[in-house]
Amino acid sequence: MLLGSTGSIGVNVLNIVRAHPDRYRIVGLAAGKRVETLAEQMREFAPRIVSVAGEDDADRLRDAVGDGVRVVTGEGGMVEVATTDGADLVFAAVVGAAGLPATWAAVDAGRPVALANKETLVMSGRLILDLARRRGVTLMPVDSEHSAIFQSLVGHNRDEIRRIILTASGGPFRGRSAASLKSVTRDEALAHPTWKMGPKITIDSATLMNKGLEVIEARWLFDAAPERIDVVIHPESIVHSMVEFRDGQVIAQLGMPDMRGPIGYALSYPERLTDVMPRLDLTKVGRLHFDAVDAEAFPCLNLAYQALRGAPDAPAVLNAANEVAVDAFLDGRIAFLDIARVAARTLETASGREVSGLSDVMEADAGARRAAMTYAQQLADGDADA
Ligand SMILES: NC(=O)c1ccc[n+]([C@@H]2O[C@H](COP(=O)([O-])OP(=O)(O)OC[C@H]3O[C@@H](n4cnc5c(N)ncnc54)[C@H](OP(=O)(O)O)[C@@H]3O)[C@@H](O)[C@H]2O)c1
Repeated sequence: MLLGSTGSIGVNVLNIVRAHPDRYRIVGLAAGKRVETLAEQMREFAPRIVSVAGEDDADRLRDAVGDGVRVVTGEGGMVEVATTDGADLVFAAVVGAAGLPATWAAVDAGRPVALANKETLVMSGRLILDLARRRGVTLMPVDSEHSAIFQSLVGHNRDEIRRIILTASGGPFRGRSAASLKSVTRDEALAHPTWKMGPKITIDSATLMNKGLEVIEARWLFDAAPERIDVVIHPESIVHSMVEFRDGQVIAQLGMPDMRGPIGYALSYPERLTDVMPRLDLTKVGRLHFDAVDAEAFPCLNLAYQALRGAPDAPAVLNAANEVAVDAFLDGRIAFLDIARVAARTLETASGREVSGLSDVMEADAGARRAAMTYAQQLADGDADA
C-alpha cells in the first residue's frame, strides 16, 4: 500500500517498484488531488483499491479507469486503503497531519509501516510507538537522517549511544542573518540547494523547522532524550547523520542526496537492493563542511526542542501551527519570518492536557490550527503585536 503516491516520495517509491517487478507489487494507492497522475499510476500498477481526497475526483477516476478498482474517498478512504488485507507493508508518504489517521490505522491493524510522514511521529510520538509495540509492528524510518541513524545502529547496542548527530543542509538561506531574511520570496525559499522535495518540506528546510521535526522524530524512534540529539549544518548533504557511542567513536552513513537510497532500504531491509541511486565519488565531492546552527536566524529548531520539553500536546501544537504558517507563506499572506512567529505564539497555547489517544492528538491539532490561523491573519493584516 502506498499512501501519498503522487508526491515526491510516492513517485520515487513507484520508481523502485517499477524497477523490481519481481519483488514488489502495488495493492493500493492513496493520494490527494492530483487525479491525472493517480489515474496514470492506476493504469500502470493496477491496484485493487485507490483513495482520493474529494468525491468529484473519485467520479473522474472511476470514469478514467473503469470498473475493477475500488475507489474510495477522504480520510476514511485512506484508512480503508491502509488497512485492506493483502499488503505486507504500508508506505506512509502523505505530507502533514493528514497522514496520521491512516498511518495510525495501519499500525493498529498490525501492518508494518515505512514511515516518510514524519508528522505522524511528531504528533503522536510515544503513543504510536506504544501501539506499534503492542501490535508487534515495525516502523521503518524513511527520512534520510533517520535511515542513516538506523543503519549506523545495526549491530550496535542502543544503550551505548551517547549522542545522535543529525545533519542539516542548511537550506537555501544557510549563512544568512535574520535581518536579511525579512523579505525573501516564496520562490527563493522553494529553491533547495541539494534535495528535490514537496513544497511543505522544502519550506520547512528553509526555516530549519524540518530539522526540528526530525529532532522530535529521532527522540521517539531511537528513544533518545532531547539533550542527546544535536544538529550540525552540512551543506553537501553527503553525511546523512551520525551516532556517537559512549567510547567516543562515531559511525556515520554517507551517500548521494537521493531519496531512493533510504526508500529502497526501507523497502528491502534487512537486504539491500542493487544500484538504486547514483554512486558516491568522494574525490568529486572534494570537501565536506560542518557548521553550527545559527539559532537566531533560524529559531524554529529551538522551538522543536522547546516542544519536546513542554506539555504532552506541545509537539502536535507546534506541528499544526507550522503547517498553517507554511500554507499562509506559500499563499503569499505572511512573510518568511512570520512562520516562526506563528509557530512560537501558537506553541504557547499548548494546554498541558493529557494526550492518551489519537482523538486527543487530533483535538490538539485542531485547536492549534484555529489559534495559528488567527495569528497568521493578524500578521497578514499588519498587526505588529500579533
Ligand atoms: N520529499 C522528500 O525528499 C522527503 C524526505 C524526507 C521526508 N519526507 C516526508 O515525506 C512526506 C511526503 O513528502 P513529499 O515531499 O513527498 O510531499 P509532496 O510531494 O507534497 O506529496 C505529498 C503527498 O501527500 C498527498 N496528500 C496531501 N494531502 C493529502 C490528503 N489530505 N489526503 C490524501 N493525500 C494527501 C499528496 O497528494 P496530491 O499531490 O495528489 O494532492 C501527495 O501524494 C512528508 O511528511 C515529508 O516530510 C519527504
